[in-house]
Amino acid sequence: MHSLETIVSWAKRKWFVYPGSDIYGGLANAWDYGPYGVQLKKNIQDLRWKTFVQMRPDMVGLDAQILMHPKVWETSGHVDNFDDPLIDDKVTGERFRADKIIEDRLEQWDLSLGQLTDTYGVKNLIPESRTFDQMHAFIVGEIPNNPNKKKKQAAEWTEVRKFQMMFYTHQGVVHDADDAKIWMRPETAQGIFVNFRNVLDTTRMRVPFGIAQVGKAFRNEITPGNFLYRTREFEQMEIEYFIAESDAQAKYAEWRELSKDRWENKVKLKSDRIRFREHESDELSHYSDGTFDVEYQYPRGRGELQGIAYRTDFDLRNHQESSGKNMQYNDPYTGERYVPHVIEPSFGLSRTVIAVMLDAYDEEQLTNSKGQEETRIVARFPFAIAPVKVAIFPLIKKDEKQVEIAKNIYASLSQHRVVEYDDGGAIGKRYRRQDEIGTPYCITVDNDSIDNGTVTIRHRDSMEQEVVVIDELVQWILNKKT
Ligand code: GAP
Repeated sequence: MHSLETIVSWAKRKWFVYPGSDIYGGLANAWDYGPYGVQLKKNIQDLRWKTFVQMRPDMVGLDAQILMHPKVWETSGHVDNFDDPLIDDKVTGERFRADKIIEDRLEQWDLSLGQLTDTYGVKNLIPESRTFDQMHAFIVGEIPNNPNKKKKQAAEWTEVRKFQMMFYTHQGVVHDADDAKIWMRPETAQGIFVNFRNVLDTTRMRVPFGIAQVGKAFRNEITPGNFLYRTREFEQMEIEYFIAESDAQAKYAEWRELSKDRWENKVKLKSDRIRFREHESDELSHYSDGTFDVEYQYPRGRGELQGIAYRTDFDLRNHQESSGKNMQYNDPYTGERYVPHVIEPSFGLSRTVIAVMLDAYDEEQLTNSKGQEETRIVARFPFAIAPVKVAIFPLIKKDEKQVEIAKNIYASLSQHRVVEYDDGGAIGKRYRRQDEIGTPYCITVDNDSIDNGTVTIRHRDSMEQEVVVIDELVQWILNKKT
C-alpha cells in the first residue's frame, strides 16, 4: 500500500482535494473537494443510493436539517454521553485522546491480555471499554513519555476527563439567551428518527422499511487527522431500518451481509484490506444491542468505514416520551401496536473516499515505446466510481474534421456519462493524464474516424485498444456499468 503522503500529494495535484481555506494558509484538518473529488464522492454516494434506495421498494430517502431542536440531542443521549476521554500533559499543555494513545501504545507492544488483565483489571484490549480510572492507570504506567515527542520527554499526566464533542452555535440575535444555543448535528441519524412519524403518516411504507439520508455531520474531534479519516466536518450516509423486535436478529444479519456485499462487489475494495468485526459487549455505544464494524486497513492502521448497529427501540421510545408524540406502529395484518426497533447501517462517506483512493492508486513500471523504463501512475477506480468515465481526443488538434467529430462524440456521450474532451499535448501524455485520474476509457478520433466512421478505444488497465463504430458509442457506454 502506498503511503498516505503519496495519496495526499496525488489527490492535491490531480484536483481531487484541496486544503480548506488554502489562501489563508489552510484550516487544520479541513479539506475541500476539487472537481474530480466532488465527482468521485458523488459517484460513491449515488452507488449507495441506487443499491439501497432506488432498487428497494422498502426504502425511501430524506434530507433533514443540520440544526435541530435542542431536545433532540438531550433525548438521544448525545448531550450527556457524546464525549471523548481526554488527558493533558501538564509539561507541554498538549491534549490527547486517552483511548487513542492507549491504542497506539498497544499496537507497538506485544502484550498478552492476561498481563493486561492482571495489571490493570481490564477484560479486553479495547481502550474505549475502560473506565476513566483504568485508562489513567494504564497511561501513567505504560506511557511515561509524551507521545508527540520524538526524543523521550517525560509527561506529567492529568486525570482523564470527559470532552463534549458536539459543536454548538447560536441562533437569533440574542446570543446569551437560554434558548439561543443550538447544536450542530454529530450524526444524521436523529433527523431520520424525528421524521419517522411523518414518513409513516404520509407514505404507504409499512414495517419493515427504511429511511436513508446523506449529509454533513460535525464533531469537535480532539485528534483529527490522517487526511479525510478523522475531520471535524464530514459526511455520513445513514440508513435507519425499522423492524419488529422479533425480526431484529434476522435483519441485523441481513444488513451485515448486504454491507459486506457492497464493499466487496460494488465499491470493490481489495478484500485483504477490509475486515468485518463484531463489537465486544463492553464496547457498545449507549444505544446499541449489537454492533458490527467494517474496517479498512489504512496506512496508519485499521479504522472504521461503516458501523451496523442494532439500536433497539432506544431512539423512537425516547423521542416518544420526550415529545409526547406517538411513535407506535399499527400492524395492519396482525393488529399489533408497537414502537419499532431499528437496524442502522451507517456509512462514512469521507472515509470511503479515502479508502477508495488508497485502493485505486497504483504505480506501474513500464517500458515505453522508446525502450525506456517509466512509471505509470494509474488510479484503478471501478467504472461506477471513476470521476470521468471516458476521455475523447482528436488525434490532431489542428485537424478541423477530427475536432468536429470528437466534439460531436463529447456532446452525445456527455448526455449519459461524465466525459472529458482533451486536445492538449501528445497522445501519450493525454493517456497518462487520464490514467492518473482513473478514467477507464480513452477514445481517439483519427483519420479512420473520417474515412470509416470508427474510433479507437484504449482501456486504462490493460492498455489494450479496440475499434468501435461511432454510431454505436452511446450503446457501448450505456453497457458499461461496474
Ligand atoms: N449514527 C451512528 C454513528 O454516527 P459512528 O460510528 O459514530 O456512528 C458512523 O459514525 C460513521 O461515520 C463511521 O463509521 C465513520 O465512517 C464516519 N465518521 C465518524 N466520525 C468521523 C470523523 N470525525 N471524520 C470522518 N468520518 C467519520
